[in-house]
Amino acid sequence: MHTRLFDDIDWVGYVDYPIRDFHSYDTERGATYNAYLVRDAKTALIDTVKAPFADHLLRNVAELTDLAAVDYIVCNHAEPDHASALPRIVEALPQAKVVCDRRCRDTLAAYHDVASWQFELVKTGDRISLGRRTLDFVETPMVHWPESMVTYVPEDKLLFSMDAFGQHYATSQRFDDELFLPTIMYEAKKYYANIVTPWGKQVWATLEKAAHLPLSMIAPAHGVIWRTHLKTILDAYAGWAAGRMKPKVLVIYDTMWESTAQLADAITEGATQPGVEVMPMHVRRTSLTRLATEALDCATMALGSATLNRGMMPAAAAALNYLEGLRPVGKAAMAFGSYGWGKGAPEAIDRWIDEMPWEKLRGPLRCQYRPTPALLEEGRAAGRLLAQKAKELADGAG
Ligand code: FEO
Repeated sequence: MHTRLFDDIDWVGYVDYPIRDFHSYDTERGATYNAYLVRDAKTALIDTVKAPFADHLLRNVAELTDLAAVDYIVCNHAEPDHASALPRIVEALPQAKVVCDRRCRDTLAAYHDVASWQFELVKTGDRISLGRRTLDFVETPMVHWPESMVTYVPEDKLLFSMDAFGQHYATSQRFDDELFLPTIMYEAKKYYANIVTPWGKQVWATLEKAAHLPLSMIAPAHGVIWRTHLKTILDAYAGWAAGRMKPKVLVIYDTMWESTAQLADAITEGATQPGVEVMPMHVRRTSLTRLATEALDCATMALGSATLNRGMMPAAAAALNYLEGLRPVGKAAMAFGSYGWGKGAPEAIDRWIDEMPWEKLRGPLRCQYRPTPALLEEGRAAGRLLAQKAKELADGAG
């Protein structure tokens, strides 16, 4: 199975329809591991796939060329979803050199026995002529691993962008103009939010490099290939990397006996204002992947939990732990929650907000056992404050 991008440049990857858990990322639409074959006087395979799908990749390559005729395997990224098939692929392509940067070679050597592999190490500015076509290499450290790089074919203005601009989206179609664009963009946003968010500055630097490249097609390592909506995805990345926010409020919470849920309802009611999007998210009914996706472009958050064993409920703690790792910047937040005979959760969330690169909007909103009418009114007022702040941050962002 292969799909033509240009004459003698084909997609030869693998579509993983059934996968639903990609190292905890909720891949509700499956995933693809994209690899590409560039045939010329010399032939290059750009990236590989997960180890279990190595033979699928080899069959796709063999439909197009003699395996012994492949001269190069470009490894843009050593993460196992793209490189764990390499031992099998290197064995099956006896003439091929593995082309990567020094850090990638070291990472591959940590994962695999590479003693018998032939490497050709490259760095930014290096190029390999295949004949009529050229491969230019640009290192993109921390987008999103230290050894990441992208490969550019100037003759076709084609960028093999590795994880950047990718989406976990398993489909039989390969191009952005063959599917419903808002779905592709949601999956691209989800990918950025869950994989790329911590590296916004590095993404920005990469985008600046890409801005100097004429582009007719961006072929990422996951999901559909951008050949029509390049401006849409590039603009979206610029906005996400700049931390651009919408007038959007998240109310993220867990509840035990519905008291924290009542506070969440009051905050949601207060935040429901014209021009503001409000999303209450019960953390045991919302995947962490979805939560992070919505957090990417929200401006303000209320974070709540009932108290369990003097702290947060486990799912609330997991949500905060996940957000802490992704570390989206520039938000404003507040804590809320309930307790019985011993305090704990709202205070812990309040302290957690202090450690984030965020503004704290107010002290924790707390109730003992059941919220009183006065406390629910305070919750509605807090919601209005979150909405107002969300508008201000969205107006002032990027
Ligand atoms: Fe798709 Fe970072 O691997």
